[in-house]
Formats: sequence, structure tokens, C-alpha cells
Amino acid sequence: MAVLLTGGTGFIGSHTAVELVQQGRQVVLLDNYSNSQPEVAERIGRIVGRQVPAVEADLLDEAALERVFSDFDIDSVIHFAGFKAVGESVEKPLAYYHNNLTGTVNLLRAMSVHGVKKLVFSSSATVYRADNPVPYREDSPLGAVNPYGWTKVMIEQILRDQAAADPAWAVLLLRYFNPIGAHPSGLIGEDPSGLPNNLVPYVARVAAGLLPKVQVFGADYDTPDGSGVRDYIHVVDLARGHRLALDRLERPDRLGGVEAFNLGTGRGSSVFEVIAAYERACGQKIPCQTVGRRPGDLPVVYADPALARAELGFEARLTLDEMCQDSWRWQRNLSSE
Ligand code: UFG
Repeated sequence: MAVLLTGGTGFIGSHTAVELVQQGRQVVLLDNYSNSQPEVAERIGRIVGRQVPAVEADLLDEAALERVFSDFDIDSVIHFAGFKAVGESVEKPLAYYHNNLTGTVNLLRAMSVHGVKKLVFSSSATVYRADNPVPYREDSPLGAVNPYGWTKVMIEQILRDQAAADPAWAVLLLRYFNPIGAHPSGLIGEDPSGLPNNLVPYVARVAAGLLPKVQVFGADYDTPDGSGVRDYIHVVDLARGHRLALDRLERPDRLGGVEAFNLGTGRGSSVFEVIAAYERACGQKIPCQTVGRRPGDLPVVYADPALARAELGFEARLTLDEMCQDSWRWQRNLSSE
């Protein structure tokens, strides 16, 4: 019995693979390597001390998916795969809807054919409507402001519809806040191709001397230091959240249906606080410059983590300083390759 991880060599998928293998589970990684490298599977193997099966396949390729479900004894799926760049989704909405929605429907079809009905879905805090008060609770109204966000909202709905049509389906939606950090081994982490869209990968490249300075998108928000506030969570904590989610899906008293959980710390940090933590981690000053607000950004986003704590037993443990230290270790290894 194995857990299939779509997007298994991506940032969150790879850390979750390590966590699950260390728990004693069999995993199968599936990826089309559009935003990761085959070498990640080998690195996961080095961390856990044994080889982990990895299949190159695209969720848009139904025949390839069928082969994966025929070749392996898959019992549950964690679905990470998908395009995830907010700005790109505004420029190429059809590519995002096609890839993320059709890919998911293909996956659910293959699962149905093979009687696999347990799924954990990589959702996002972006599914909460922008006018919700913080902290965001799981029952806050949903809605998105860009095509990427809408794909997450729509996939959540597809999963609710599927679980309503067949009550044997058991689905957990994990709504991530801002995952950062890297595995403490320094062997796996986030390595976006091109210019990073997100704050911490950008700061990491500035610290490594690969980019000249960090642009702070707005210092005139109604926040203590004027910069945007987010709920940053260590990817290793997030990976443990997936292990707890799978454990919950397998509980004999769980009857199916769909549940959503926030995975965040419940604490917000500002852009300037993140930069200061990164400076402590790398021991040098990080040049930055305040520029205008980025369109679509909210002033403050953080989770209400109470439901995940009560129902999953999930609590984030690692601090912002640890997130930056682990990110920096990974970035240094990348730069020295
Ligand atoms: N920021 C900068 N400079 C940068 C990049 C970001 O100042 O170069 C700021 C942003 O304005 C924001 C904060 O840093 O205040 C965090 O920005 P990120 O781009 O790292 O993260 P977001 O909160 O914008 O987006 C993240 C995920 C999305 C997801 C969203 C859900 O990247 O996929 O959270 O809330 F949709």
C-alpha cells in the first residue's frame, strides 16, 4: 500500500515525502518536472536512507496516469501538482484552468477506476475572500482575486461534489498560509526557476549575491511597520500536517466527506521582520528598497490555527528564525553547486 504524491518532487511534496517515509509509509512520487528536477527524488532517498520510486508523468496524460495506478498498489493520494504563480495565472488564465482543473479531474477519474477514495488536497489561504477579517477561519467565505486562486476554490468544489456523489470518498483540504524554509539537511528546498515571485526565495537570492536588492512592496499599510504581514510556516511543519491528515483519513471511525483545515502558525510577520530574521540567519545586511504596493496584495493575512490543533493535533513548532536559517543553508548549498 502506497501514498501517491502528485507534484512529489516539488517544494512541499518533497518535504512531505521525507516525512511519510520516515513514518514508515511507502510513497510513490509523480511529477512532470515542469518546476522541479528528477534529482530531487534521489535527494529524498539520501535523506531517508533508501530509494523512493518516482514516475515522470503529466496529469494531463490519462494513459500515463492509468499506468501509475496499475503499476503501484496505491491506497491514497496527496495532490500537490499544479501551476502556482499568481502573476502568470493572470497572463495565462486558460493554461492555469486547463492544467490545474483538467489535471485534477483526470486524477480523480483514475482514482475512481482503481477504487482509491482517500485524498489530501494542497489548497491555499488564497481561497478566502479578501474582505474576510483576520484571522481566517475555515468557515470564512470563499472567493479569489486571480485565476490561480480560483483554480484552488474550484478544485475544492469539485472535491465536495465528488464526495457528495460517492460518500466513500474521504477528502481533506489543507489550506496553506506562507510555506518557507527548507529541510535541515540542506538537501531539498525551494528553487523557483527564473525570478522568484515570493518574498523569501527572493531574499535568499539577494543574500547569496545573485540579485542586487529586495523590493519591499509597500511600507504604507496599516500595520505596525507599514509592510505587509503574513503567516509564514516552516515547510517541515507543513509536511507533518500532511502526515496527520493522512492518519485522520485512515481512522476507522472517519466516515468520508470533506473537511478543510488551515495550516498556519496563527502569527503574522511583516516583510521587514522577515528580512531582519534573514539577516540574522546569514550574518549580513540585506539591501532593500521600498517600492509601491503590489496589485492584489492584502495588508494582513494570518490563520486561525485552532481547528487543525483540535482535530488534527497539528501545531507549528518552528520559529521564523529557524525558517530563515534552514532557507539560508539550502540557498548556500544551491549557490555552491
Ligand atoms: N513581498 C515583497 N517583495 C517581494 C515579494 C513579496 O515585499 O519581492 C511581500 C508581499 O507584498 C507580501 C509578502 O511579501 O506582503 C509575502 O509575499 P509572497 O509573494 O511571498 O506571498 P503571498 O502572501 O503574496 O502569496 C502566498 C503564496 C500564494 C498564495 C497566497 C495565499 O505565494 O500562492 O500566499 O495567501 F496564493
